[in-house]
Amino acid sequence: MSPSPKQTILVTGGCGYIGSHTVLRLLETGYKVVVVDNLSNSSYESLRRVHTLYAAFAASSPSAILEDASLSVEALIPFFQVDILDRAGLVKVFETHPEISSVIHFAGRKAVGESGRIPLDYYNVNISGTVNLLQVMEEFNVRKIVFSSSATVYGNPPHIPIPETSPIVASMSPYGRTKVFLEHIIKDLCTASVLKQEQQLKELKDQEVAKTNYEWNAVLLRYFNPAGAHPSGIMGEDPQGIPNNLMPFLAQVAVGNLEKLSVFGNDYPTEDGTCIRDYLHVVDLAQGHVAALEKMEQQQAAGQYGCLAYNLGTGTGYSVFDMVRAFSKAVGRDLPSVVTPRRPGDVPNLTADPRLANKDLNWKAQKTLDEMCADLWRWQRNNPRGYNSTPASIPALD
Ligand code: NAD
Ligand code: WQD
Repeated sequence: MSPSPKQTILVTGGCGYIGSHTVLRLLETGYKVVVVDNLSNSSYESLRRVHTLYAAFAASSPSAILEDASLSVEALIPFFQVDILDRAGLVKVFETHPEISSVIHFAGRKAVGESGRIPLDYYNVNISGTVNLLQVMEEFNVRKIVFSSSATVYGNPPHIPIPETSPIVASMSPYGRTKVFLEHIIKDLCTASVLKQEQQLKELKDQEVAKTNYEWNAVLLRYFNPAGAHPSGIMGEDPQGIPNNLMPFLAQVAVGNLEKLSVFGNDYPTEDGTCIRDYLHVVDLAQGHVAALEKMEQQQAAGQYGCLAYNLGTGTGYSVFDMVRAFSKAVGRDLPSVVTPRRPGDVPNLTADPRLANKDLNWKAQKTLDEMCADLWRWQRNNPRGYNSTPASIPALD
């Protein structure tokens, strides 16, 4: 299903890792976008790269639903450097773009370890910021949201692969708890909005037409472990400081910015003793957001409202050692690693059961582990210092 007629999607956190790949995918699918980001963990350069890639895409596949390939970055991607805690700033965005019909909400803080040291900052930005956004959306009658949740809401799950019906627990970190609480907040909002609509309809006389449809549609996407980069090698993850996550850390080892990987524990109850995760290519993940928007459209067209939750993962788990081997293969040499004690809060296995998303969203991860590693390596090799490295031009694929 393609968007009709070109809808405008507000993407919060659109300069970040997943946000920038999603902005590109939205444009390639024929959506218009508006981006809000305070640039606290990203740079505007990511949108310039989106622009470069989009222009190449649109020039090579002309289509009536696509934006003009010759638009400037500012015209193609209206950008607001606004904090989601800044209510007046958000109001301005919706006033300037009354055509916004849905929001994809990525903005927030995401470092698990840091969240244990500064929990109030995490609760403030992630929870207060999101509540602020939801209130402004209500004010402007925009009642469709796709929210970035995380597999961390499952804690240490009783069954692998994990279905969406697995218990949502108080999670392993303040960061994880913000995702749990936000899932509840968004569900509560959807439930209340359906009740409010029923009440309005009850109060109306026969001939009267409801003034506002109060009902919300929300899709909670529980990402497993996003990894990789755009295959062009000009867009990818650009973590500030020393990366917390396995794949960006390995990528920094490969370019010589870091000496060796510490493998956090080899005494887990898994085949090789290291933790198992479900690594998902970021381009597949971006497509999952387009699928979620389309699902909300179908729901609305059928007069159905409420909150849906989906796992976005491949359904296949890999251990830390598997990932070191796969990335070493992409790089062409063995990467140094040493086993160190477990990292507090890690659980042995988080592997998705993605069948609900496969069926309901008509979405399935397409890319292989080797593609994920090759694309990450191309990005890191071409941009050893992330977006500070080089001007954007698309190199020939190797
Ligand atoms: P990211 O840090 O690259 O992107 C988040 C973006 O939000 C950044 O551009 C940052 O500048 C912006 N931002 C942060 N605080 C903001 C604020 N107060 N106001 C406006 N903008 C703000 O992270 P990402 O990896 O792209 O993650 C996107 C979302 O997905 C986050 O909500 C994260 O919690 C969630 N998520 C990520 C992963 C992962 O492994 N990357 C896994 C599960 C869920
Ligand atoms: C993967 C595996 C580590 C680094 C986290 C968040 C989750 C989501 C994604 C985001 C684990 C091991 C890691 C290293 C290692 N969040 N590892 N050495 O912990 O599955 O998920 O990121 O916003 O909510 O919890 O991902 O990449 O940190 O770790 O051995 O230097 O790699 O122990 O088994 P994780 P990760």
